[in-house]
Amino acid sequence: MRRKPVVLVTGASGEMGHGLIERLGERGGLDILALDIRELPPEVKARCAHTITGDILDQFLLGRLVSEFEIHAVFHLAALLSTRSEFTPETAHQVNVGGTLNLLKLAIEQSRWHGQRVKFMFPSTIAIYGIPDRATKEAAGRVREDAFLTPSTMYGCNKLYCESLGRYFSRHYRQLAVEKERAGVDFRALRFPGLISAFTVPSGGTSDYAPEMIHAAAQDQPYACFVREDTRIPFMAMPDGIDALLKLMDAPAEALTRVVYNCGAFAPSAGELAALTREAFPGARITFEPDLKRQGIVDSWPADVDDAAARRDWGFAPAYDLELTFHEYLVPNIRRRYKPA
Ligand code: SER
Repeated sequence: MRRKPVVLVTGASGEMGHGLIERLGERGGLDILALDIRELPPEVKARCAHTITGDILDQFLLGRLVSEFEIHAVFHLAALLSTRSEFTPETAHQVNVGGTLNLLKLAIEQSRWHGQRVKFMFPSTIAIYGIPDRATKEAAGRVREDAFLTPSTMYGCNKLYCESLGRYFSRHYRQLAVEKERAGVDFRALRFPGLISAFTVPSGGTSDYAPEMIHAAAQDQPYACFVREDTRIPFMAMPDGIDALLKLMDAPAEALTRVVYNCGAFAPSAGELAALTREAFPGARITFEPDLKRQGIVDSWPADVDDAAARRDWGFAPAYDLELTFHEYLVPNIRRRYKPA
């Protein structure tokens, strides 16, 4: 009795899940097994061979997956983002850390069954950085992977720890055992900046002001931006984010010099984003009404990231700069979305 070979996507109905499942479907190859705590939207469901509504903390559910499926790769996207995590820090820890541990255990177990390494793709975040004050942020400029690893949010702490957990499972799992793990987990993490999608709006993040501003303008709704005009962090268009994740997955292991990579595409201030939004949607009504607490979180994130390692090791090269993101990706797609012909 053969179990079904699949790639598992957790958090499948979230923002990245939408884009990733579409691309995985286009690429063909392994069937997609999608897991999310919420029911999947029909357009996502249609691209998946198997879908499960359930919780990554549910051990019975994960046990059932092992009996039914042969999992060769995992995209572990399920998480509570930075703002949402601050409302329920302990729950966030359970989901973000406990959930990741469960999935890593599942991946190890799977590798024992089929004897191949299970690729484990993990979206990490700029939230793992924690810069003490604005002057330091300005002086730091483009931050490298190993600097300022002192996050101030539960989400940042969780993701930073899970990067280490993934490294452990990949390289040192049960290192004192007589027999070395033969296949194991091939864990690869990508620290994403704020992601902007034309098709979905994020929920629960702190970089959400950018997509919220643009989507509000497209719907002719006023938007009060919760950070100052001069606030600057890196962003990327969603298709480039998905592309980067797939490219990192495809990279030969020998090419990788790190387990965790930065990536970014452009780093506009909130004011610059507002100016482009007004240009694209001339009726846009954007005001700035900083929420000091959320502002504090964004101020602790770098103004930009140094992604030289990703460019060098596996050819990271985002197709969309800020202008192209607006003019070729966001504006036409968002217009179509809200004002169908
Ligand atoms: N977009 C994420 C958040 O705001 C940061 O990676 O939480």
